[in-house]
This record gives sequence, C-alpha cells and structure tokens, in this order.
Amino acid sequence: MCGIVGYVGPQQAAPILVEGLARLEHRGYDSAGLAVAGSKGSLRVAKAAGRVRPLADALPKRFSGHTGLGHTRWATHGPPTDANAHPHTDAEQRVAVVHNGILDNAHDVRRRLVAEGVELASDTDTEVLAHLVARSTAPTLQEKVVEALAQVTGTWGLAVVHADHPGEIVVARHGSPLILGVGDGEMYVASDLAAIVRHTTSVVVLDDGELASVSAGGFTTTTGKVASEVDVDPAAYDAGEHDSFMHKEMLEQPETTARMLQGRLDERFGTTHLGGLHLDPRELRGVRRVKVLGCGSAYYVGQMGAGLVEELARIPADAEPASEFRYRNPIIEPDTLYVAVSQSGETIDTLLAVQEIRRKGGRVIGLVNVVGSAIAREVDGGIYLHAGPEVAVASTKALSHMFLGFALLSLQLGRVRDLSVADGRRLVQALERLPEQVAEVLALEPQLVEVAKELAVADSLFFIGRVRGFPVAREGAQKFKEITYRHAEAYQTSELKHGPLALISPDVPTVAIVPDDELVGRNVAALHEVAARGGPLVVVTHEGVDLGDLDVTRVDVPRSEVELDPLLLTVPLQLLAYHAATHLGLDVDKPRNLAKSVTVE
Ligand code: F6R
Repeated sequence: MCGIVGYVGPQQAAPILVEGLARLEHRGYDSAGLAVAGSKGSLRVAKAAGRVRPLADALPKRFSGHTGLGHTRWATHGPPTDANAHPHTDAEQRVAVVHNGILDNAHDVRRRLVAEGVELASDTDTEVLAHLVARSTAPTLQEKVVEALAQVTGTWGLAVVHADHPGEIVVARHGSPLILGVGDGEMYVASDLAAIVRHTTSVVVLDDGELASVSAGGFTTTTGKVASEVDVDPAAYDAGEHDSFMHKEMLEQPETTARMLQGRLDERFGTTHLGGLHLDPRELRGVRRVKVLGCGSAYYVGQMGAGLVEELARIPADAEPASEFRYRNPIIEPDTLYVAVSQSGETIDTLLAVQEIRRKGGRVIGLVNVVGSAIAREVDGGIYLHAGPEVAVASTKALSHMFLGFALLSLQLGRVRDLSVADGRRLVQALERLPEQVAEVLALEPQLVEVAKELAVADSLFFIGRVRGFPVAREGAQKFKEITYRHAEAYQTSELKHGPLALISPDVPTVAIVPDDELVGRNVAALHEVAARGGPLVVVTHEGVDLGDLDVTRVDVPRSEVELDPLLLTVPLQLLAYHAATHLGLDVDKPRNLAKSVTVE
C-alpha cells in the first residue's frame, strides 16, 4: 500500500524515480509525486492526483538533480488531490518526505504546529513530519529525523531529503517495509524490490525501529547491517507478452505450482516434507485444533484449508478474518495450531493477529509468499509459498499456492494421526497431477471468454457452492466484484431457499460450483430452484455430472481427489473475472479503491 523509491548517485534521479514508481504502481495509484535535490541546494517537487505516466509527461524539462524521492499513493488521510500527494515539504521547501503507514497522533501534532504558526498545505498525516524535520536544530539529518519521529506514534516506512544535506537520504522503518539497494557508486531506496531489481540485487532489508543514512558512496544503518544478494529473476517483475500482470500470473500457475511441490512430496510414506514448520511428529500429534487467519482472498483460501485439515487430519479447524480476530480479545489455546496465511506477508491485520497470538503464548505458523516479509519473520515456522512475485492487485497464483500449502500441511497432520499410508499416497499422487490439471483448466480460456462476456452485462450475480464448494464460490465472487465492479455475492447453495432466492430473476445470473462429490444430487436440486425462477446458470462442474434437462452453460473442469477439487474449481473463476473485466474495458491490474498489500488498519 503506497510505494516509495529513492535514488542518490551520479545519474539524473528523475528518470530512475519515474521508472521505479511505474513498477510500484500496484501498491497505490491515486496520486504520485517526486522530489529532486538540485545542485544549488534547492528541492524541486512535482506531484499530482492520478497515475504516474501523466505526472512523468508533465515534468518540467529542468527537473534535474542526483538525489531524489518518489511516491505513489493510496489515500488514507485526506482524499487523492494534488496537495495530498507525496512528497510533502515544509513551507520553505527545504525538506521533502515520503511516507507509507499512518501516524496515529497526526491530528494532535497538526494542531500543535498550527498553534505555533505553521501553515499546513495538505490534509495528510505525513506533512507533519516534513515540518518537524525542518524545525529540528539537530546537526545531522539522521538526528533531525530521530527527533521528528520521537514526536509521532503510528507506523512508517519513511524517506527524507533535506536541501541543507545534499547527497543524502535518511530512511526509517517502523511497521512498513523498506529496503536499500546497493549499486556501483549509487544507492537506491524502495518499499518493494520491484522498484529497484533491475538496477541491483544487492539489498539491505531494514528491520522495524531501524534508521539508515544513504549516500552515493554507501550507507550506514543504526544496527550496522551489511548488504546481501537476493536470488530473483528481474524478468519475474515484467508482464512480458501479456496484456496484464493478472493474465501472466494466472497462466504461470502450472509452472509455479509444480515448482512449489518439488521436494515436498513423499510418495513412499504418503506424506510431505516441510522442514520450515519446526514441528516434530510428536508436536504435530499434540495439535488439538487448527485456527486459520488471513484477510480477503487469503481468508477464503483459509476456509478451504480448514476444510482440508478437518478432512485429512480429522482435527477441528476453522478460518476467521484476521481483521476481526485481533479485535475480540481472542482466547489462545496452548494446543491449537494457528496458521497465518498471506501472500505479501505485510497485511497489517494478519501481522497484528500473529503478534497477539505470540504475546499470549500461542504457536503460530505462516503460509507466506514473500520471503523475509514481516509475517514470515514473526511466526514460529511455516511454509513458503514460492509463487514468485505477484504484481496484479487481484491475487490469483498466490491463492493456488496457499491451497497447496494447506494440502501439504493437512497431509502431514493427517499422517501423524489416522490417515493411512494408502490414503496419503492417493493424495500425494493427486498433488503431483495438479499442476498439469491446472494447465487443462487454463486451456478452457476460449470458452470462459464467451461465458465472461455473458456475465459481464449483469449488474448483480450470485456465486453459490456448499461445503468444499462454498469458499470456492466466495473467492469467485470476490475476484469478480473487485475487478469488474459488479455486485457479486457468494451464498451457500443450501441457504438460497432461506432468503436470497427472492432476488433470482432473468437479470441475475448464478455461477454454481457443483463438484462430483457426495452433495452433487442436492446441488443439482438447488439449480432447479434457480432455473424455475428464470435465473441464468453457469455451472462449474465435472464431466459426467448429470444436470438433467437444465438449460445451463456448463464448464467442466478435470477431477482430482474430492478433497483437492477446490483448487481446480477456483481457477476458472479467476479467468471468468478477468475476461469479464477486460470485456468491460477495465484496468484489471489496478482496480479502483484497492492496492496490493493492505498495510494500514
Ligand atoms: C483479493 C486480494 C485481497 C488479498 C488480501 C490479503 O484478490 O488480493 O483480498 O487476498 O488483502 O492479502 P495478503 O495475502 O497479502 O495478506
């Protein structure tokens, strides 16, 4: 949420900052801005509501300087206007600040500054930091920043430049990620590797509470950190021949899921190898309950995961939005295994839930994609998802990896209990086939394009499923609504007759999840109830499922073992949402009002 990039070195800063911002736009895209320190000890600032490209096109020709900061914003304090865009400066424009996070006491500090005669130019919390740094009489920029930060509470990933301290950027981290990139006689600052990975893979990941002073010649951090190499392929941050990152990320699932499973399946003993869990079989046996915590789509996959745990391990399991859990003084049980699931590893609600569990002595593991992220560092152990970078705001491949993470965990939990080796092998073999089967689902794309066009015209849709199919329906509705802006509501198929059937009409299509499982008969009966009210039906099902004389559009996906079917039923819903959104001419990678990684409460 919000992106920061900074540069200091021999090159012109502005083009590097603009390129970095374009690569960070998925983190927030309602406004953007740059500040560059010119040679004569002055700062130039350009900022505007809207996207990065128009800002870059409108940059004055003489926007030169070798030290600078850039920011792309997702509004929290104050609407997306030119004035509220970052960087923020003091009245004399000697200090420029970019900030991710939220200052909780900004209101009080603003009032105090106004009482002292400061004229505030924006509605933001961040602006106070520019004034506080400018008013500090401390000798070094780092000390000025320390003084300013001592007067605020909240969270920050912060970068500051000062006209009186040319060639220097000071950064600070407290609750919002920041990294330094080390180049050859030049340095970079970023909130996300995506912004700088084309320039350097030698990075320093700052910890909470850490500050750093950065100049062309190098950096010093308050903890004396040194840089290390990150193993990433810069091409993973490019959309390549695809029209969007979302499309690229959906289509790479066969390859990424196969990679994730590599070395983790044990066919001989029908179990899995998960070294990162840090739980031996005795400890796994001691688990009496599993509680999954995540937000948004991660929560829906968490529901699928809880189902897997109950089915394979016969341990009571449930999922809850981390954003609710942390606010209700949760009871933390010693023999419950808490599982935090997050693509970014930075979602603040999930992170704070993890911290609350640990504060109360609970054991929590993570299913996290971003290596070294805040949640990954906070948990007692876990399973890395290895999906590679996910840039599109709407999560797709990372969710499939989360599902597989739950399958691996459940299998191991099951095998230390009553799941037989034969059942374990059946599931291991099914897992081995899954990546290819995902490719078979993706091959349905031409059919799904046509179905998506039909759905795109509806103002309102239902997604229905039951038991294993219900979280699939929830995730399908989530994906559809977030990128098409159509109202899509998920419901348990069994609950339709208890109310929502009243809304079914020829204008309200229903996407029904009907796997070939023990509930197929009941599901088909419910479809008749929808059809009887004239509701158009799209049925995501398996070949051979008898839908009788129902007039439906059917999408047949390959069968796995019933426990693992939810993954193959979810993938077509990603494509449906994607093609409905593109048919409507929408920007799928940057849906309105959303941003990747929700790092504010
Ligand atoms: C939906 C989506 C969000 C995220 C949620 C959690 O497509 O992307 O609902 O799933 O914000 O994010 P992570 O997984 O990063 O914790």
